Amino acid sequence: MSEKKTMMGAILPGNSTVELKEYPIPVPGHGEVLVKTKSSTICGSDIRAIYREHLGKGPEGYQGVIAGHEPSGQIVKCGPGTRRFKDGDRVVIYHISGCGVCNDCRRGYMISCTNDTYRRAYGWQRDGGMAEYILAEEKDLVALPDSLTYTDGAQIACGFGTVYEGIEKIGISGNDNVLVTGLGPVGLAALMLARAMGASSTIGVDVIPERLKLAKDLGLADSVLEAGPDNVNQVRDLTGGMGCERSIDCSANDKARLTCIQAARKWGKICFIGEGGTSSFQPSPDIIHDQKTIYGSWVTSIWRMEELVERIVRWDIHPEDLVTHRFTLDNAADAYTLMESGKCGKVAVVFDEEVK
Ligand SMILES: NC(=O)c1ccc[n+]([C@@H]2O[C@H](COP(=O)([O-])OP(=O)(O)OC[C@H]3O[C@@H](n4cnc5c(N)ncnc54)[C@H](O)[C@@H]3O)[C@@H](O)[C@H]2O)c1
Ligand SMILES: [Zn+2]
Ligand SMILES: [Zn+2]
Repeated sequence: MSEKKTMMGAILPGNSTVELKEYPIPVPGHGEVLVKTKSSTICGSDIRAIYREHLGKGPEGYQGVIAGHEPSGQIVKCGPGTRRFKDGDRVVIYHISGCGVCNDCRRGYMISCTNDTYRRAYGWQRDGGMAEYILAEEKDLVALPDSLTYTDGAQIACGFGTVYEGIEKIGISGNDNVLVTGLGPVGLAALMLARAMGASSTIGVDVIPERLKLAKDLGLADSVLEAGPDNVNQVRDLTGGMGCERSIDCSANDKARLTCIQAARKWGKICFIGEGGTSSFQPSPDIIHDQKTIYGSWVTSIWRMEELVERIVRWDIHPEDLVTHRFTLDNAADAYTLMESGKCGKVAVVFDEEVK
């Protein structure tokens, strides 16, 4: 490591701007590692809850720290007492550091850690990935195999992990036609994983033409539909009048959620991943009489994230294919502006060999 003592990091003041500040390069303490950031992607949640304004409460409460909860990089220094990882290892950081000893943490779901003092998400309550280095706890690391890039890894840290969890809850196989509403990076990831897991056909819905085109161009959706009042009938027409066995909402939009419910086939399973807003439906005709089940899904567990990494290699897919734009840290403001516009796939802030 060079003698550099300071680094640049980006914070989000909450008025749709990005501020770059100088920070000391952290020194890893016991059980901690210093990671050289290689790729740090932007999530819809960052835009919704931090960038435009500081909306978040509780787990989404932003504490003015270095932003970015989707980091991947290389360990440059292990603190004393690390047990598995070593200098030079390539890693993904599971984006919430939990207390480690509550029931949720013991299940691997640090996302829902119940300890108010020790639950700190990277990029929300502790410094995250929009900086040259990140201080991480060893227990929050997932190994990144050589066949995946750091930008693949960054997407696994939140979006792909989240989607995989949702898919595992509802189960997707070759039996299923799959509908995804909201084709931001999370919805595109849902299509990519549904395909990899054998979905017999995939249908995507969004309001933004660029995103519909992207889903089609990347070969992730067999059919794309512009969001509108006919979506349920359109999905039925595309599925022999039956509807989809599985549907996943990644938009958080009330109407799109209703489409997911109503366009699901009898006995269908629906997963809500998009966060916020509301959902209006009529329990009897929409759910009960058609024997449908709605699941909610929040991020994933660290063990499932580890298994997802293994499967992504096995399926020979690359999450980074969803990245349409790369920026260096000094241009992070442009990265957030673009992500807010929605006229893009995934947007990444990249370092070193990930700058292309
Ligand atoms: N559950 C979780 O653990 C979890 C984790 C990460 C992100 N999220 C949430 O997932 C959602 C998606 O994340 P993202 O990064 O892709 O965000 P995004 O904002 O880029 O994507 C949302 C997409 O929904 C589309 N949309 C809006 N109204 C629609 C409608 N009526 N019909 C169809 N599509 C519509 C938008 O055009 C946009 O493309 C966000 O709400 C985010 O907060 C949830
Ligand atoms: Zn996220
Ligand atoms: Zn905990």
